[in-house]
Amino acid sequence: LQGKLTGVPDEDQFFDLKKSEHSLPPISVATWEGFIFINLDPNPKESLVEYLGVRGEELQGYPFNKLLSCHSWHAEIKCNWKMAVDAFQEAYHVSFVHKHSISDAFKVQGNSLAHPLTLKLYNHHHMLSLGSDPQSVYGNPLLKYEEKTEAVGTPQKKPIEAAALRFAASSTGGTEFSIDRLPAGVNPTKNPNWNGDITVFFPNLFTFMRVNYYQAYNFWPLAVDRTRFEGRVYYAQAENAGERFYEEYRKIMLRDVLLEDWSTVERSQAVMASGVRTHMVLQDNEILLRNFRRVLESYGGKDYTGNGISLCDEGGLSHVR
Ligand SMILES: [Fe+2]
Repeated sequence: LQGKLTGVPDEDQFFDLKKSEHSLPPISVATWEGFIFINLDPNPKESLVEYLGVRGEELQGYPFNKLLSCHSWHAEIKCNWKMAVDAFQEAYHVSFVHKHSISDAFKVQGNSLAHPLTLKLYNHHHMLSLGSDPQSVYGNPLLKYEEKTEAVGTPQKKPIEAAALRFAASSTGGTEFSIDRLPAGVNPTKNPNWNGDITVFFPNLFTFMRVNYYQAYNFWPLAVDRTRFEGRVYYAQAENAGERFYEEYRKIMLRDVLLEDWSTVERSQAVMASGVRTHMVLQDNEILLRNFRRVLESYGGKDYTGNGISLCDEGGLSHVR
């Protein structure tokens, strides 16, 4: 565990070999709220707390320590890691890519295309806050589900989805996890129809905090056009069969939603790799992608997809408001 070289095959045949000089290179390790962070620099210029900065402070008080059950999905995606991260840095795709799964999750009255309630850009990181349709199984699970006859022309909920919502609405977790107990930096607009806050810690940690569960995704580059995705969802221990049913439904639903994301991302990568397109065009609600590029460039990164592709054909900063 110390990384020391303890044995060498046929050691006598080497010349003046000093095993102590061939240990594994040291790296830095630090923890925050149960997450383990590594820094390949053995002597970091700043501590983990300094690196997480203001957003790390704003998340203090979120009930990480009460959300200890976990399910996870892992996958190898045929895309550059940055394209994979970008797929989770905006919500406007939800109404289109996830039209048949969770397109209702982030809709609130007057905001049917999941525009952020607010967003913030930090030195390295950024966040956006999303509203919610309380009737969605992927929405805020503590809001009350009301069974009602849908108006003519409104898509009907599938029976199993309606059942999951009924169990979610009767969840006992509501007494312990309250939207009113979240720290000030979570749901910063204090919107009663809040769904969750996405925070992306540069470079490869995506988090999505809800009132009583959160997602944490990692994106590991394997090659210029291959990424290992590790998605974990943390929640409180189920206290009855109904809650367990709701968790299982949400878990399977997330798998299907992720498959929708990866299908789109792999096609985007293929288009970029073909060379037919020279850049990608972004819209206003993709401001986090533009900030991601700004931070990336501050570390000397320019090639965005591994194929010489830029996000915009002009400077990123001029696009960041
Ligand atoms: Fe998505």
